[in-house]
Amino acid sequence: FTVPAVDNEPMRPYGPGSAERAGLEAAIKQMQADLPFEVPCIINGKPVKTGKLASQPLPHDHARNLCTYHEADSATVTQAIDGALSAKAEWESLPWNDRAAIFLKAADLVSGKYRYKLMAATMLGQGKNAWQAEIDAAAELADFLRFGVKFVQDLYAQQPTKNSPGAWNRVEYRALEGFVLAISPFNFTAIGGNLNATPALVGNVTIWKPSPMAVYANYITHQIFLEAGVPPSVIQFVPGPPEIVAQQALKHPSFAALHFTGSTFVFKQLWKDIASNLEVYKSYPKIVGETGGKNFHLIHESADIRNAVLQSIRGAFEYQGQKCSALSRLYVSSSVWSGGFKEMLLSEISKIKVGAPDDWSNYMGPVIGRPAFEKIMSYIEKAKQAGGDILIGGTGDDSKGYFVQPTVIETKDPRSVTMVEEIFGPVITIYVFDDAQYDETLKLIDSTSQYALTGAIFATQRSALLKATNALRNAAGNVYYNEKCTGAVVGQQPFGGGRASGTNDKAGSISIFYRFVSPRSIKENF
Ligand code: SER
Repeated sequence: FTVPAVDNEPMRPYGPGSAERAGLEAAIKQMQADLPFEVPCIINGKPVKTGKLASQPLPHDHARNLCTYHEADSATVTQAIDGALSAKAEWESLPWNDRAAIFLKAADLVSGKYRYKLMAATMLGQGKNAWQAEIDAAAELADFLRFGVKFVQDLYAQQPTKNSPGAWNRVEYRALEGFVLAISPFNFTAIGGNLNATPALVGNVTIWKPSPMAVYANYITHQIFLEAGVPPSVIQFVPGPPEIVAQQALKHPSFAALHFTGSTFVFKQLWKDIASNLEVYKSYPKIVGETGGKNFHLIHESADIRNAVLQSIRGAFEYQGQKCSALSRLYVSSSVWSGGFKEMLLSEISKIKVGAPDDWSNYMGPVIGRPAFEKIMSYIEKAKQAGGDILIGGTGDDSKGYFVQPTVIETKDPRSVTMVEEIFGPVITIYVFDDAQYDETLKLIDSTSQYALTGAIFATQRSALLKATNALRNAAGNVYYNEKCTGAVVGQQPFGGGRASGTNDKAGSISIFYRFVSPRSIKENF
């Protein structure tokens, strides 16, 4: 059989007076009236209330909670792992078209029946505006599921092309022997779904530890999976502290893979934990992670200034710079800088409104929480102390929500702290280079940061693009010409980076599915 043709979920228009805007606003209003929600762990399809409550506050109004949730305790994690392992045999031997149908149905529930609810939870709980919620919780999540089905079909179709006479060679793409631990971040509702759906599509069972800052939207996603027909124990929803959920899972003999998106620090820690438990495991675990970035734009003297300015603003400040792909360091040629770039950049940024995510006039919302707010403000302070010049922004207000103004720092030191370290907020640092120093600047970009996730080059001279592409061969896993460094689309730009940014297994492509299977070659003589 062939799965239905897939395409990217179309964006809906949310213009004033539109039915789409009315639908979304109704969902937001309803959620605001009904919060706080109580979220249990979901183990074997059933709610488990441990009584150990934690909360997910609204980042734009932190006195209120979107939900309180029950944190898993040790007994709950055991129950989750045991349940998942006992569901495994049936799930992996299910005819592939049944697994495909379940996730295609889940995609339709995401893009249809639950679209506005998922968006509302992402807006209120994770501080996204409507557009950012649409591209994440509606479009990208549906895309991951639909394209995932297509990628798995393509994977299974990959078979040996040669047989000796009287024999037939084939490869069976088995699920891993054990369970997958999925640890998802706050910043994309879509990633939460995908960290589970990708392994599950090829027959694995997962233990899902969502970010404490995205519990509610992830819980809705989990409810959608169950409604679509994912068997109750195949994806276990296990919010809770890492020292309980992750540590316990990592000590289990049947731990087979980590599927992680989050900070570099935590990923390295988990990797070390896995190494220290190696003797416990039945198999060598697979480790798949997407972590931080210190992403760059390089503006060559031949760049179209207006495009470079507008793309840089979008890359840096959409979702408050909290995408792992967000623009953070900007290298601008001096003739472009003084030839209108600086003036236009500051003038456009001065128009940006920051505020509650459900107010349509706000381009930016809050950052996710107090630790994020404090970290970002402390980096701005460090930049000032290091002699950086704050060209705009530099202030924040955490009295009601965690709001940070879009901030531009100019530095004369290309290795100053905010050029090097990940901030994960709406802050860019600019280094202006002499037009004649293009080659040296390429070396600088490559050697400045430990990360290698995304980057963009703005130039109308093709030779400048080519030179940068070669010199920056290992400096980014996703490169853009004349477009911002964020916004990879499933099925179009496989996403991920190397160095300290992750294992570069490319979410949104067939590549990542290879990591969650253990192929078996079968030769049959007739
Ligand atoms: N895939 C997102 C982007 O490209 C980040 O996770 O912006």
